[in-house]
Amino acid sequence: MTSSENSVNVDAVILVGGKGTRLRPLTVNTPKPMLPTAGYPFLSHLLARIQAAGIKHVVLGTSFKAEVFEAYFGDGSEMGLEIEYVVEDKPLGTGGGIRNVYEKLRHDTAIVFNGDVLSGADLGQILETHRTKEADLTMHLVRVENPRAFGCVPTDADGRVNAFLEKTEDPPTDQINAGCYVFNKQLIADIPAGRVVSVERETFPQLLAEGKRVFGHVDTSYWRDMGTPDDFVRGSADLVRGIAYSPLLEGKTGEALIDASAGVRDGVILVGGTVVGRGTEIGAGCRLDNTVVFDGVTIEPGASIENSIISSGARIGANARVSGCVIGEGAHVGARCELNAGMRVFPGVVIPDGGIRFSSDQ
Ligand code: GTP
Repeated sequence: MTSSENSVNVDAVILVGGKGTRLRPLTVNTPKPMLPTAGYPFLSHLLARIQAAGIKHVVLGTSFKAEVFEAYFGDGSEMGLEIEYVVEDKPLGTGGGIRNVYEKLRHDTAIVFNGDVLSGADLGQILETHRTKEADLTMHLVRVENPRAFGCVPTDADGRVNAFLEKTEDPPTDQINAGCYVFNKQLIADIPAGRVVSVERETFPQLLAEGKRVFGHVDTSYWRDMGTPDDFVRGSADLVRGIAYSPLLEGKTGEALIDASAGVRDGVILVGGTVVGRGTEIGAGCRLDNTVVFDGVTIEPGASIENSIISSGARIGANARVSGCVIGEGAHVGARCELNAGMRVFPGVVIPDGGIRFSSDQ
C-alpha cells in the first residue's frame, strides 16, 4: 500500500484552541496558528502538508478567537481540502478538544495534530506504522538532542510505548512526544465528553494502563514547537531557508523572503531566514538577521534587528538596535533605542527617541 492510499480514509484533526500565552503580546489579537510565518499563517504550512499526504477532510478544534480560522480558510476548497470547524465555548484542553470533534469524524482513523508544531515528518509513514502495528494509538516520537526539556516516551524493541515520563534531569530515552497522534476512532469516543481533559496527562497514561496497543513512530525529522518567541523566530527562519520543509515554499527558499509589495531601500542586508511582510518599508542601511517582520511595518534607516519579531504596523526608529525582542502591533520604538534579551513591547506602546538604551552614550 502506498502512503497516499493509507491517507485516503483518514480524518485530520488540528487542535488550535490554545491561548498562546507564551507568545504574548503577538497572540493578544491573533491565535498562535494564524501568526504570519514565512509569508503565510503558520497553519497554512501544516494544511499544505496534510493535503500533500492525500488527506482531504480536516476538522479544526477551535476555542480562543475561533472565528479567525473560518474567516481565513473557509471550506478549505482553495487548498484542495474540506475543512470543518468545531468551537469549544470554554477550552476543553487537548483531550477534550479531540473528543469535541468526534461527531464530525467520517473515518475509523484520525490523525491529530497540535496546531503549533513545525514538523517535517512523513505523514504517510506514520499512518503506515499505525496500520502495520495494528495499533489503537500511534504517537509520532521525535529524537532530540536535549530531551530534558520535554516529556519522554520510551518504547520496547517492537516500538510499543511502555511509559510516559515527565520532564526529568536524567531521561532514559531521547524520544519525545512530537504532538501528532493517530487514533482509532473508538478511542476518541471513549474520552470523557464535556469536560477538560489533557491527552498527555490523562488519556495516554490511561490507555497504557488499560493495555491498549500504543505504538511510537520514531524518526529524526525536523521538529520544533513554535510556542515561544525564540522557537517561533527559529522555525520561521528554518522555513525560509529550506531547513524545515513546507510545500508552500518550494522553489522560494533562501536567506530571506521578501513580499513583492515591500519596499526595501539601498544597502539593506536581510539574512538568516528573515521574512518581510506585505507593505513593509525598510530604510537604507538597515540590517535584519533571523527576524520576522509582519505586514505594514516601517523600519527607518540604519536600524539593526536580529532574532526578533516585529508585529504589524510597528515602527522602528532610525539607528535603533533590537535583539531577541517581540515588538507588538503598532508599537513605536524610537530612534537610537536599544532593546535586548527577551523584551516584549506591548501593542501601541510608544518609546521616545533614545528612550531605552543599554550603552551610556547618546
Ligand atoms: P501556551 O499558552 O503558550 O502554552 O500555548 P497554547 O495555549 O497553545 O498551549 P499548548 O502549546 O500547550 O497547546 C498545544 C496545542 O494544543 C496548540 O496547538 C493549542 O492551540 C492546542 N490547545 C491547547 N489547549 C487547547 C484547548 O483547550 N482546546 C483546543 N481545541 N486546542 C487546545
